[in-house]
Amino acid sequence: MSSHVEPAYRYLTPEVCARIEALRSRYPDRRALLMPALWAIQEAHGWVPLEAQTELAAYLGVPPVWVHEVVSFYNMYHERPVGRYLIYVCGNIACSLRGARRLLRYLLDRLGVAERAVTPDGLFTVERVQCIGACERAPVIQVNGEFIGPVDEAQLDDLIATLRAKAREVTP
Ligand code: FES
Repeated sequence: MSSHVEPAYRYLTPEVCARIEALRSRYPDRRALLMPALWAIQEAHGWVPLEAQTELAAYLGVPPVWVHEVVSFYNMYHERPVGRYLIYVCGNIACSLRGARRLLRYLLDRLGVAERAVTPDGLFTVERVQCIGACERAPVIQVNGEFIGPVDEAQLDDLIATLRAKAREVTP
């Protein structure tokens, strides 16, 4: 099925296409295949820019808007580059009442970065999100999928130091 892949494709590399083809039998419906296919692209490239979405639509033979709807609905897909550690700060009501806005500001200032940007060392991206379903731990953050909360400024300092140290371990 991969014979129709154009060599000019930038994001649908042969490896990504192979992963998508392996998924086809489990997801015979092309719409259902979109999510795992997008995930394959993101794992390979770190994000799913519009160009990659267009390529996927062409590859699967679906309208580009189908792909874009999925990417823009789920915040697990990134339309811009993100740092190695993606920190979500919940900004919904329970967390806001317990200081989430202050913590978000603290984190951004501490890292010297704007919201949704990547720190110059490529390590961190911070983003305010809607309720992440752990209100009982408010104010709560999520770091690469792991919930941490309730958090305060001192814990954020520790977290940053720990993640920087971890990054040094894996990057000689
Ligand atoms: S309001 Fe923050 S996790 Fe629900």
